[in-house]
This record gives sequence, structure tokens and C-alpha cells, in this order.
Amino acid sequence: MKTIGIDTLGIYVPRYVLPLDTLAQARGVPVEKIHLGLGARAMAVAPPWEDTVTLAANAAARALAQAQVSRDEIGLLVVATETAVDHAKPASIFLHDLLGLPANCRTFELKHACYSGTAGVMMAAEWVRSGSARGRKALVVAADIARYDLASSAEFTQGAGAAAMIVGENPRLLALDGVSGVYARNVYDFWRPLDRREALVDGKFSLSCYLDALDGAADEYRALTAGAGPLLERFAAFLYHTPFPKMAYKAHLRLFEREWTRAGGDPAGLAEAAEASYAALVDPALDAARLVGNTYTASLYLCLAWLAEQRGAQLEGRDLALFSYGSGCCAEFFGGRLVEGSARHAAGIGLAAMLAARESVSVERYEELSRAGSAGGTPPADTRAHCFFSGVTDHKRNYERTASV
Ligand code: HMG
Repeated sequence: MKTIGIDTLGIYVPRYVLPLDTLAQARGVPVEKIHLGLGARAMAVAPPWEDTVTLAANAAARALAQAQVSRDEIGLLVVATETAVDHAKPASIFLHDLLGLPANCRTFELKHACYSGTAGVMMAAEWVRSGSARGRKALVVAADIARYDLASSAEFTQGAGAAAMIVGENPRLLALDGVSGVYARNVYDFWRPLDRREALVDGKFSLSCYLDALDGAADEYRALTAGAGPLLERFAAFLYHTPFPKMAYKAHLRLFEREWTRAGGDPAGLAEAAEASYAALVDPALDAARLVGNTYTASLYLCLAWLAEQRGAQLEGRDLALFSYGSGCCAEFFGGRLVEGSARHAAGIGLAAMLAARESVSVERYEELSRAGSAGGTPPADTRAHCFFSGVTDHKRNYERTASV
């Protein structure tokens, strides 16, 4: 079988960040609840001149620059998002234009809550595997702005960002193992009616839907790979969709307990072993999510980017488990190997530098930016973005480039 996977990963997050201790103070919530209860420290705040299209285009521009592939090599462009900017016109066609992609590049937008980024990656991998790609690559971009009502309990789990993935043969980053465990079920755990900008959520229920979906997807993956040994011994890291970091902790404890029980492990040793497994195999991937918040479709790939950038040298040649969850719901459990040489390639992601260069905003400024909504605007002159959303005229959205992309 051909080696197919993620060749290059480009990440983009907005320049503004709100430290969550200040938000906790403003809302009268104990800061420990946020830092320990949710595991979150800060969240990205998108200004009015950034929307799903610009987040996606900025991440994609970084990926293309890193990969050094020509525009003509991209034969498929998929934008995965649950915060689309139009009911009919897909975000992808704006990217097609902003990035200067060729006319014979198939392009469309995908939706299934936070899951569609993974749907895009899998579909792109199949397109390459089938031969339809004719040697070309796919560009899959997951981009979202997670918004809940101000002063709601979910407010602390907002965020914004994008992950752009170039998918092709002989990838320089992550080779997919080609096996997926999938789980889908119609549930109302999180949704956003067409007339609302902020999502609605049945918070506690969404946690149990996520965990049930993990059980289902992991069970299928285990069955499909029977003979490859216990799940917990196969992978050097477990990456989970991370709406807030404590969710990844809950997920891993659930998976660990089920695997431990299946293997006939001593119940007395379970808690300690599960904590140690979490600390070694999950926690190292979570720092970026702690500082950015929920990026919905991009969340899992933000964790991958952080792990590959920070731990790439130790993990080269090792297998990773990935779990993608999208409310509603659909979930997928799959594996991938960080290929030899991937650490050097991942160093180009530049995520740590991007996080360090952000500007902190006060709660007042965050509320002002949130209320300004999606009016468009102009970024400060020192912007590091390649494009921005300048506003709407005659019901049409206008995007402008700040530099050649
Ligand atoms: P909440 O009501 O604010 O918080 O909702 P809580 O009362 O459940 O407390 C949270 C944790 O803090 C608990 O820990 C408390 O014990 C602890 P746990 O028991 O769960 O381990 N706590 C404290 N710890 C230390 N000191 C204290 C303290 N007080 C309490 N003083 C909730 C939290 C996550 C439900 C809310 O923020 C929410 O609704 N968020 C949005 C929904 C969400 O993120 N769901 C996740 C699963 S669904 C998903 O991932 C899909 C999604 O990404 C969307 C998509 O697919 O498109 C959301």
C-alpha cells in the first residue's frame, strides 16, 4: 500500500489572547475551576477583521510556504468548518482565490461540527490512494471561531484558529495507517441554528456523548487491527479532540480503564497507572490547546502540530493514536506514524513562536471585540497575517491581501 498522509501542517491563530484568570475574576468564577477543572489558561480572540476564511487562508499560506509546493500541484481544496460565513457560498472558494490555486482544483466546504477536519483528511487520503489525484496533493484546511454567549458557562471554552494540511504520497510529517474506527449517532449535544452566531450546548450531555463516541470508535479500531497488540502499548502518544484540556484527560482515563479491564488488570492499580499513562502519553500535546482554547475542526491538529514541533525528535518513527469528535455526532479513531525526518520538517510550523508573539487583551477589550461581531476592519500595520476581511458591501464579503500569498 502507498504511504499517504499529512505532508505539511500550517497553523494560524489570531493575534489577540485573553488570559482566563482575568475572565474568571470578571465573572466571579474561582480561577481554580478554570485552571484545574477545565485545564485551560487562555483563549484566542478573533478581531472583526478575521473570520473563518482569513484564519483558513492564513494557515494555508503558511503550509504552502513551508511545503514549497507549487500551486499547480494542489488538485483538491477542502475547507472544514462549522462557522461558515455564508449559507451557500463556501469558504473554500474565497481561499481558492486568495491562495491563487489553479482552475482545475476541485473545491468545496465540509460540515460536521468539529469532526469535519478529519472527514476532509480521510477523504483527501482516499482521493490520493484511488489514483484520482494523478500525482497532485490535497489541501485540507480546518478553521473555526468557537463562540458561546458572553457570561455562559461555556464562555471559558471559546477559541479560534486554523490548521491547514497538505495531504499526499510519501508525507514528510505523518503517515496515516489507513485504518479507522468510526462511530456516528444522532444526538443534540451541541448545535447552532442558522440564525445564531453563538453555539448552543447541553454541556454535561456533550461530555457523555464524546466519551460514548470514543468507546465506539476505539472498539471498531481495535477490532479492525486485532492481532496488533493492546492499544495502550502500540502508541507513543494519544491525541484527542480538545474542546478544553480536561476533556482529553477524561477521554484518556476512559480509554485506559476499558483497556485495563479488558486486559484483566488489577482494579487496585488502575487509578495510578491511568494517571501515569495520561502524563506520559497525552499531556505533552496539550499546551497549545491550553493557550488557544477550542478551535473546533482544527483542535486535534493543533495538538498534533504542538507535539510534532515540541517532541518530534523523540517521536520520529513512532505511532500516534488520534481521536476526532464532532458533536451531533460523528467520531473517528485512527493511527499515524511520525515519519523519519519529520522533526526537522515540523520545526517549520512555528507554533510556539506564534503563541509567544500574541498580544494580551483585557476583558473589556475582549467583550468589545466580541460585540463588534463580524463587521470586518483593518488590522494594525504590523500584522503578520497574509489577508484580512475588510467588510461587506452589497451583501458581498471583501477580502484583501496584506502580502503575496
Ligand atoms: P460548568 O458547568 O462550567 O462546569 O461546565 P462544571 O461544574 O462541570 O465544572 C467543570 C470542572 O471544574 C469540574 O471538574 C468541576 O469539579 C471543576 P470534573 O468534575 O468534570 O472533573 N471545578 C473545580 N475545580 C477546582 N476548583 C474549583 C472548581 N469548581 C469546579 N473551585 C462545561 C463545563 C465543559 C460543560 C462547559 O464549559 C461547556 O458547556 N462547554 C462547551 C461544551 C464542551 O466543550 N463540550 C465538550 C464535549 S463536546 C465536544 O467536544 C464538541 C465541541 O468541540 C463542538 C463540536 O463538535 O463542534 C464542543
